[in-house]
Amino acid sequence: STKTAIRGAMLTFKKDPFFHDMSECMVYESDAIVVMEDGKIVQAGAASQILPTLGDVPVKAYTDSIIVPGFIDSHVHYPQTEMIAAYGEQLIDWLNNYTFIAEQGFASKDHAAEVAEVFIKEQFRNGVTSSTVYCTIFPQSVDALFEEAAKHNMRVMAGKVCMDRNAPPELLDTAQRAYDESKALIQKWHKNGRAEYVITPRFIPTSTPEQMEAVGALAMEFPDTLIQSHVSENVNEVAWVKELCPEAQDYTDAYAKYGLLRDRAIYGHGIHLTERELNVFSETGAAIAHCPTSNFFLGSGCLNVKKLKNADRPVRIGLATDLGAGTSFSILQTMNEAYKAAQMNNAPYSSLHAFYLASRGTAEALRLSDKIGSIEPGMEADLAVINLKSTPIIDYRMRYAKSLEEVLFIQMTLADDRAIAATYVAGKEVYAAQ
Ligand code: GUN
Ligand code: FE
Repeated sequence: STKTAIRGAMLTFKKDPFFHDMSECMVYESDAIVVMEDGKIVQAGAASQILPTLGDVPVKAYTDSIIVPGFIDSHVHYPQTEMIAAYGEQLIDWLNNYTFIAEQGFASKDHAAEVAEVFIKEQFRNGVTSSTVYCTIFPQSVDALFEEAAKHNMRVMAGKVCMDRNAPPELLDTAQRAYDESKALIQKWHKNGRAEYVITPRFIPTSTPEQMEAVGALAMEFPDTLIQSHVSENVNEVAWVKELCPEAQDYTDAYAKYGLLRDRAIYGHGIHLTERELNVFSETGAAIAHCPTSNFFLGSGCLNVKKLKNADRPVRIGLATDLGAGTSFSILQTMNEAYKAAQMNNAPYSSLHAFYLASRGTAEALRLSDKIGSIEPGMEADLAVINLKSTPIIDYRMRYAKSLEEVLFIQMTLADDRAIAATYVAGKEVYAAQ
């Protein structure tokens, strides 16, 4: 085994600053070294302390840069890579007119493998080192993504989408097939290397009660797998769910009665959740994936992060792109749009809060914060290096920045893929700028 090291400014978090003093949460070093060995971080801290212990370990130095935990995208649809920026409709029409066409192509393993390669390469260009991914109903589309991730030793969480109603017949399975195919994929991929399986009923409108029952039984059999779905994204969708499930108290209850809300469960959007539903999320430990670029693009609304971050009934939040309804692979751009959504709710939060959400916060939402999302010895060596002067206007603006908070705010507002100087996955450089 060989050690390698990188040097630059470093930012990481230990606790949630929405609930604790920032001074207890944040760790910042203006000149740090991070030492990696066998895919793990073995040392991280002030360069002055670590340098004398390094011997002949090679150190790659990044100037005008900040080393952060690799970004985690907690809700993303890789099959929609080919249809990002599909013009002009809200959720239900957009699904029918674009998504359910594109996803049919994933019956072809070759096509799936091609898209998986483009998708993961683009994530690395954006400093994304881990993600929670929707595939399609075709098991071969799940294999394609896990196989591509395994080539890079990437921590990826993914699952076969289950749907047995309200979609074209080519995209429907059945309750039994959803159960059998998901179970076979769990046995093949769950905890295989850094892979984790995610039980993935798409959302209430596309699964019959029989399928929800089957998926709930599977989730019970495999209590340590993640569950993912969509909830309360669009007001017309919420009304449709009410019609489809008249016996459920609300959208959240329609999932909860099948045991699909639990510690390791993450639901995309949650914009229009009621106080009752937020209480259920808090009690069960299920998380919300905040997808601001998607919420703006489809006209879905603005999630109020601070409302979820209520100490009396805290709800975990992960940041997510939700491509291809989301419009950028960049988590910096996702933070930018999340800030604007917060402004629309009259409830903004600082850049430090935003960087927490994008790193440790998302890892906590996925219950993976013992492995990823912070820079500390023992954590997996997934890192992103942000060049703080990546464009002429950012370079110029940075001359007037007076604090770390301001530097980070400039980055999350103005920077994008051009700011990623390097990306490390399991201790290996998987992307370097130019
Ligand atoms: N709800 C159900 N499926 C989807 C999807 O693919 N994208 C988004 N944004 N919402 C959904
Ligand atoms: Fe989604």
